[in-house]
Amino acid sequence: MAFKLPDLPYAHNALEPVIDATTMEIHHGKHHNAYVTNLNKAIEGKSDLASKSLEDLIGNLSAVPQDIRTAVRNNGGGHFNHSLFWPCMSSPGQGGGGSPSGALAQAIDRDLGGFDKFKETFSNAAATRFGSGWAWLGVKGGKLVVCSTPNQDSPIMKGVAECDCAPILGLDVWEHAYYLKYQNRRPDYIKAFWGVVNWAQVAKNFDAAK
Ligand SMILES: [Fe+2]
Repeated sequence: MAFKLPDLPYAHNALEPVIDATTMEIHHGKHHNAYVTNLNKAIEGKSDLASKSLEDLIGNLSAVPQDIRTAVRNNGGGHFNHSLFWPCMSSPGQGGGGSPSGALAQAIDRDLGGFDKFKETFSNAAATRFGSGWAWLGVKGGKLVVCSTPNQDSPIMKGVAECDCAPILGLDVWEHAYYLKYQNRRPDYIKAFWGVVNWAQVAKNFDAAK
């Protein structure tokens, strides 16, 4: 069964003014859609791969034939990363922004030096990722970690990703994610991002990853 582009869990303009509607339309409808289309193209006719879950497929890239491995890495990673990213944001009027609570907040205090320190570490990972890539908050060995990956590499790609963890929050720092509104000002985009983080969803991801 072919992979499918998931619907956005909100309207294109829901994240304004942090992320504008046009950016969301292009980012989801064109960029994410292209990753899905190209992933399906890469595995076309390979029923053993097409029957796998996305996590199984990109989590074990060494099991993917070499002639399509790069295509699966880039497009499968792109599909997985964006599918995680969209629900991790929410309209500022619908619970986006603020700070985490409960077990997630406690783990941030315990493992990352508190919420402010975590935001600084994560923002720095996002700002210093050279070129295109992602910043991540993830779980590794029962603890929270912050890291980043280049291109569409995902922390679930075993033996491939620069950071190996179960991601629970990601921030896309490809220029396609922010250029229309922020141009070269990636740090402004990162700062504004905190205003739309859906902490309830991140907490759900945390519970599932623990
Ligand atoms: Fe993206």
